[in-house]
Amino acid sequence: RPKITVPKLQAMREAGEKIAMLTCYDASFASLLDRCGVDVLLIGDSLGNVLQGQSTTLPVTLDDIAYHTACVARAQPRGLIVADLPFGTYGTPADAFASSVQLMRAGAQMVKLEGGEWLADTVRFLVERSVPVCAHLGLTPQSVHAFGGFKVQGKTEQGAAQLLIDARAMQDAGAQLLVLEAVPAAVASSVTNAIGIPTIGIGAGVDCSGQVLVLHDMLGIFPGKPARFVKDFMAGAPSIAAAIEAYVKAVKDGTFPGAEHVF
Ligand code: KIV
Ligand code: NA
Repeated sequence: RPKITVPKLQAMREAGEKIAMLTCYDASFASLLDRCGVDVLLIGDSLGNVLQGQSTTLPVTLDDIAYHTACVARAQPRGLIVADLPFGTYGTPADAFASSVQLMRAGAQMVKLEGGEWLADTVRFLVERSVPVCAHLGLTPQSVHAFGGFKVQGKTEQGAAQLLIDARAMQDAGAQLLVLEAVPAAVASSVTNAIGIPTIGIGAGVDCSGQVLVLHDMLGIFPGKPARFVKDFMAGAPSIAAAIEAYVKAVKDGTFPGAEHVF
């Protein structure tokens, strides 16, 4: 199968083909995810939670993400490699660019950052310098202390309106992918319809252009109570490969997320 590129993701949205994305932090899983047909591999700062045992993503460093990005890139997956810019590494456009260069040298093909309107100049600065950008809106975990906890976002009329403003600002600044996390399904649906770039939902309903989950969550190996939007695809599956294939199939045919996974 051919390499998945940013224009290919756009073409998938336009063709109505759902995008299957998972987090990935090492070479062995990168090879496996690739064999199972995962379109986008995200080196998420969720590695702070699932690999490092932190209670938030805030302690994750740029070197941490660069190390795991290099591990994933060595597997040369056909899926697009997206790496998170960690907390505190994109406070100014110049910082964001220097941080992105480190991740792209490690093998990232797109970087992801959390935030809306206020980040528009930063996104434009990156895009002008050939750094493809994925924006992340809704429950952005780096803002946990600003939010006062991990809470569903965009529930009020004002919150939903701001989400739409932020999504448009990111698209207008040149972002080519948008993750929507823990927002009401109806709100994610109207954001998706209002913009032209692909949206990737996590706890954002089935009307997004694709879905993402944290690998350890969908394999049922993260300790503690999973979030509402998580499905354990390992339950009843004969192998890890079968679980990942089932996830890809469920995303592609629109059977995941189900009503029980959405807000
Ligand atoms: O870090 C991460 O895993 C993420 C996804 C949940 C979107 O940002
Ligand atoms: Na993240």
